[in-house]
Amino acid sequence: MYRFTDYYRNDVTLSFDDHPFSRDPKHVWVICRHNGKWLLTKHKERGLEFPGGKVEENETAKEAAIREVKEETGGIVESIRYVGQYIVAGKGATIIKNVYFAEIRELTLQGSYYETEGPVQLAKIPTNVKRNMQYSFIMKDDVLKHCMKFIGKQRKRN
Ligand code: GTP
Repeated sequence: MYRFTDYYRNDVTLSFDDHPFSRDPKHVWVICRHNGKWLLTKHKERGLEFPGGKVEENETAKEAAIREVKEETGGIVESIRYVGQYIVAGKGATIIKNVYFAEIRELTLQGSYYETEGPVQLAKIPTNVKRNMQYSFIMKDDVLKHCMKFIGKQRKRN
């Protein structure tokens, strides 16, 4: 379990256990890889981030993850696995978010990328994300660092 504060000084708790905070989280975030690169999206207001969003009614969190990747990047998920879960205790709402790791088979052209400008592929996530204006606040807390480390270990094992 990791505890830290986010860009807005909200308390964040992250765990790599199996759904420690909720079996039924309402938010998802998907760390994506395609063709040997990281696949992000450029949110029109927030900037660069891994795709994600809210779980809709009548959909599982994993289904939401697959849908959000397609909507925000055009990416078709080849494989996806649960990584961990985090809870953000905000000033108003408290949100619980599942993190997934997905391999993307192909990028399809979308008519709309919703609130984003679509896919952005990066060979490397820069080390200065926290100070980099191009990046979304979602990328600016230690969820990113811990999840990238966890995924790196898993990928080495496989
Ligand atoms: P909509 O306008 O309905 O999309 O919702 P919202 O803007 O109120 O945001 P949402 O319900 O998604 O999240 C509520 C608050 O939780 C946000 O304002 C953020 O402060 C925080 N939050 C959401 N997702 C994340 C995240 O991935 N990381 C961190 N640190 N905070 C988040």
